[in-house]
Amino acid sequence: MKRELDSLILATLYNAQPDFASGNALAEELGVSRVSIWSHVEQLKKEGIEIEAIRNKGYRLIALPSELHPSVLDAMLRQERIAADFHFSESIDSTNSEAERQLAKGCPTPLVIAAGRQTEGRGRLGRSWFSEDRGNLYLSYVFRPHLAPTRMQRFTLWFGLCLCEELNEAHGLPVMMKWPNDLVSNGKKVAGILTEARIDADRTRDLVLGCGLNVNSNASIWPEEIRSKATSLAQLHGQPVEIHALAAGLIRKGLKAYECFIAGDYERDFSRLWERYNVLDGASVTVHTHQGEIAGQVKGIDAYGALELSLPNGQTRSFQAGDITLSRN
Ligand code: BTN
Repeated sequence: MKRELDSLILATLYNAQPDFASGNALAEELGVSRVSIWSHVEQLKKEGIEIEAIRNKGYRLIALPSELHPSVLDAMLRQERIAADFHFSESIDSTNSEAERQLAKGCPTPLVIAAGRQTEGRGRLGRSWFSEDRGNLYLSYVFRPHLAPTRMQRFTLWFGLCLCEELNEAHGLPVMMKWPNDLVSNGKKVAGILTEARIDADRTRDLVLGCGLNVNSNASIWPEEIRSKATSLAQLHGQPVEIHALAAGLIRKGLKAYECFIAGDYERDFSRLWERYNVLDGASVTVHTHQGEIAGQVKGIDAYGALELSLPNGQTRSFQAGDITLSRN
């Protein structure tokens, strides 16, 4: 209830920007007293949202916090008219683990889970995902797709490409897709996607796409081993990025990507986005797999989303999984 009233107040203030919204009008519109509006605004100010209050004028939104605030995100999701359930935790083990727990309880889908930080963030191939920093996004999209498991890899690529499009077109951030699940810029990783599915017979029953995106990170607190390989949107942009508008846009885009995929209405856009955002196009690479390392030149992907490589002996080999490094020429 508190969250709902907070986010309705914030949505009104956000829409009114740069003007004031009157306390009377807010109280009337939201069906509460002016005192109640005042006390909610006071609390929001304590939580880091800058709101100017002037007698006879009302309230004006001045600045949003650089870390994700659930009521602000909620206000933006209302703005985007997003029809999905949304859960937020200040701190959680892993949003993907929470997704599993919610699915086991029979939660409605689509569901989006976000957290301010994670204590046991998980990455691909059993790695951990550094998640101490509250300036980043930790998001899981939860679906029950009833799709053939063979379509999952292509779906993950499609999903990543759609996120790239959002970052480029809505925010002017030069982010590319690196097969199989990374978003990169200038050779450094900005985001990773962890796809986890539960499969029944020959159908994917539950699907969780976990997305970790470095937004306003403070690189000085990153562990040494990721500092040289990773970057953040703020570093790319040269200044902090407004995390709530970013999150709301990415949530809307991810849910839309899912709808299009399920409806089978994505192939043409897939090719267009792949051409534009595939950072490995024609590159000389090394694929690191459990079986060893194989060097070759990227040809493209097959119908299932596996990476096709031309080997030095002229043969083509495809890979369903692996880490890619670009070879120096
Ligand atoms: C990768 O290894 O590149 C994938 C990283 C995925 C991290 C995200 S953060 C939100 C979600 N919850 C997790 O525990 N992992 C994913």
